[in-house]
Amino acid sequence: MIQIFPDLESLSQAAARLFVRLAQRAVERRGRFCVALSGGSTPKRAYEMLACPPLQEAVAWEWVHVFWGDERCVPPDDPRSNALMARTAFLDKVSIPPAQVHPISCPEGPAHGARDYEKLLSLFFGGRPPRFDMVLLGLGEDGHTASLFPGTDALGERERWAASVRAPGREMDRVTLTLPVIARARKLVFLVSGAAKARILREVVEGGEPAVLPAQMVRSAAGNKPVWMVDAEAASLLKR
Ligand code: 6PG
Repeated sequence: MIQIFPDLESLSQAAARLFVRLAQRAVERRGRFCVALSGGSTPKRAYEMLACPPLQEAVAWEWVHVFWGDERCVPPDDPRSNALMARTAFLDKVSIPPAQVHPISCPEGPAHGARDYEKLLSLFFGGRPPRFDMVLLGLGEDGHTASLFPGTDALGERERWAASVRAPGREMDRVTLTLPVIARARKLVFLVSGAAKARILREVVEGGEPAVLPAQMVRSAAGNKPVWMVDAEAASLLKR
């Protein structure tokens, strides 16, 4: 399902409201809300809205557990850190218990970081494959999502729950959730904004089979079809 919004502000408002609805539903049904956040810049405004009334009070933060879909292997205070972006935008401003914020850490390198993240996920989900109530994803101009980049081993990983990544041409090692874990999400939400994403968005959502781009593969593998929340600029080349 594709939802097109006039601009990033209205897209962010809708995404933040969806977060609240999903949190309320998960807490009612299962007593907790487990969300894997996206990094990058697109979700920042939506995160900021979660730290302000009325949305801030609408979430039972004491029952929320926050994970990440991926992280760059940089120090926690590095401006490139996905966790730092989310902490600054909302996590440090809401009453979520600190022990319920589960950042990915890789001080000893991405492979070690991926194993540690898997141990954390196994502990939290009782050894069963992780199933997040919500996974937020972005879309890169090369079709990557989380840190599943085209042509990387992580993209082909079907057994492990987390993988290490040295994305081609990027200076940062990364750790990412793998495609099977992302695809198991109860609700997969892609946030896409800006004219620069128009071409790749059309390829991903209107391109035929086989799915070759990472975001297409996620879309195909997802148990529940993803929600695409996009602004008009990103949607400008869509035919349908
Ligand atoms: C990351 C993100 C990545 C991001 C896309 C889109 O760590 O960089 O997880 O997958 O979502 O690259 O990034 P923007 O939102 O900045 O365009």
